[in-house]
Amino acid sequence: MCGIVGYIGPKSVDSVLIVGLQKLEYRGYDSAGIAIVNRKELTTAKEKGRIVDLENRLRTLKIDGHVGIGHTRWATHGEPSRRNAHPHTNKAGSIAVVHNGIIENYAELKNELKRKGYLFESDTDTEVIPHLIDNYLKEGKKLEQAFMETLGRLEGKYAVALVSEIEPERIYFARNGAPLIIAQGEHAGKPEYFVASDVPAFVPLAKTAYHLHDREWGYIQGGFHLFSYEGAKLAPHFEPVTILASEIEKGDYEHYMLKEIYEQPEVAKRIIARRLKEGNVLSFEELRMPRDFLSRLGKIVIQACGTSLNAGMVAKLHIEQFAHIETVADYSSEFRYRNPVVGGDTLVVGISQSGETADTLAGIHEAKAKFIKVLSFVNNLNSTIARESDGIIDLMAGPEIGVASTKAYTAQLLNLYLFSLYMGDIRWKLSDEQKAEIMREIRRLPELMQQVLNNLDPIKKVAEFIKDKNSVLFLGRTFNYPTALEGALKLKEISYIHAEGYAAGEFKHGPIALVSENVPVIVVAPQGDMRTKMISNLQEVKARQGKIISVITRGDDEIRELSDYVVDIPPTSEHLSPLISVLPLQLIAYYTAVYRGCDVDKPRNLAKSVTVE
Ligand code: AGP
Repeated sequence: MCGIVGYIGPKSVDSVLIVGLQKLEYRGYDSAGIAIVNRKELTTAKEKGRIVDLENRLRTLKIDGHVGIGHTRWATHGEPSRRNAHPHTNKAGSIAVVHNGIIENYAELKNELKRKGYLFESDTDTEVIPHLIDNYLKEGKKLEQAFMETLGRLEGKYAVALVSEIEPERIYFARNGAPLIIAQGEHAGKPEYFVASDVPAFVPLAKTAYHLHDREWGYIQGGFHLFSYEGAKLAPHFEPVTILASEIEKGDYEHYMLKEIYEQPEVAKRIIARRLKEGNVLSFEELRMPRDFLSRLGKIVIQACGTSLNAGMVAKLHIEQFAHIETVADYSSEFRYRNPVVGGDTLVVGISQSGETADTLAGIHEAKAKFIKVLSFVNNLNSTIARESDGIIDLMAGPEIGVASTKAYTAQLLNLYLFSLYMGDIRWKLSDEQKAEIMREIRRLPELMQQVLNNLDPIKKVAEFIKDKNSVLFLGRTFNYPTALEGALKLKEISYIHAEGYAAGEFKHGPIALVSENVPVIVVAPQGDMRTKMISNLQEVKARQGKIISVITRGDDEIRELSDYVVDIPPTSEHLSPLISVLPLQLIAYYTAVYRGCDVDKPRNLAKSVTVE
């Protein structure tokens, strides 16, 4: 995915655009650019690399103006380079466009334009947009009509913004399948207008915002003018911008990821306060799904990607244990193509931090095509997935900027855990005593998390030990098998060390061939029914000179004796343990990446949300 910003207002636009792009850099960071219109003259500047590289280039070009757009890119079509960076312009340089998404019929449009003599400077799909507009202008259409007609030719998902010398005081914008927000504020008594891919771009400058729906377009000039693709004039309802600047800044932390790891106890407190009422009553007031429908479910299918699916795999066990509903957890990219066997008593559950992941959204469309109800757990209630689901549950994690998901993961685990208890409750599967005992432990969760986060020394020692390794294996069973997968995902995506998580019972069926003194094995073995079996796995690794790093319950001397490195966690029930045992793995990944000099918040090749399939 990419990040788009646009601004019209009293400030010097280049500084507003750069700051806005910096706040959207988590959406993509392989190249960036801006286009500014000043006294009917349009100037573009773009650079391969980070926003800071663009900023340095802008210092050499004194560009002034109050109308402009900007873009930070995650390459889809065309490698990261200055020529593939946005904005893209027509030949005359009188129109500049920025785009997030994919124009699926770009090849057909590009050939049509080439036949008309248009030359292309880039390998991107985006570049067809300014040339198409130019073509309509040459046919005598006004810019507004040319923009509309171009939108009518585009297939695929996109959010676009456009500036021009033709209408220098205007920014055009449109949304179809990729997020786009318009917002307004005031500076020195004068109005200022924003358009952006996500809210952080204009926090704290904008006071109200409107999240466009698909097939809505418009322009900014002396205010917002919004229309449907069908031509109807729309009256958008602007909502107050509630995100605080402190929520999207690093504060005293070196990285967003570290800040978000340490926010987890606070996030857990927030979720518990909202969900757990007096008398252990569970509340999901935003759910929008009738209890009697939920109480009669025969099957739940969880579909998600990456970290969110790891959370879904834990949820599968919780739902089956507490609500006695058959539950499967599947990658969205697999679920959507396997013609899933689902019936009227099935609920499809989507889990997505961003609420914009293309594969998960496609899984929701697949479910709805089969007339199956969809419940989604999302961190953004204005997201596409939230809008297209029948029921929603707010993760309440707050904005997560670090590309590697941490607080959203434990927020998913906790909301899904509480949802499984809610389902057990309405299906009369939980006794009051069982519920009371579980809730008592859940109320202690923030304090238990904090204990782990305060105990950094052993974690840093592990990071020192693995930072030069080429491969690390993670083992876990039942509730902590997904923990092993999540620990491996965290390590590989930010430190670039190859890492794999395995169901520990599977280890002897082949993967144990990987064990050597240079391939450390991280074992998640807290107290519980699986502990004895995990000790057997430890012995198997030790017998083959493997180095063992154990995440164990405080006081477990037997496993401590068998291990080369140990990180303690406080004693909890086995079904709560995944919310605790993942914390050391997040921090091990973080410090390993830091010791290796990796860019923790913006790892290579990745973006915060994968809005392409
Ligand atoms: C997690 O650290 C990764 N960044 C990635 O696997 C992510 O979880 C996945 O892309 C799903 O994103 P979503 O939760 O926004 O749908």
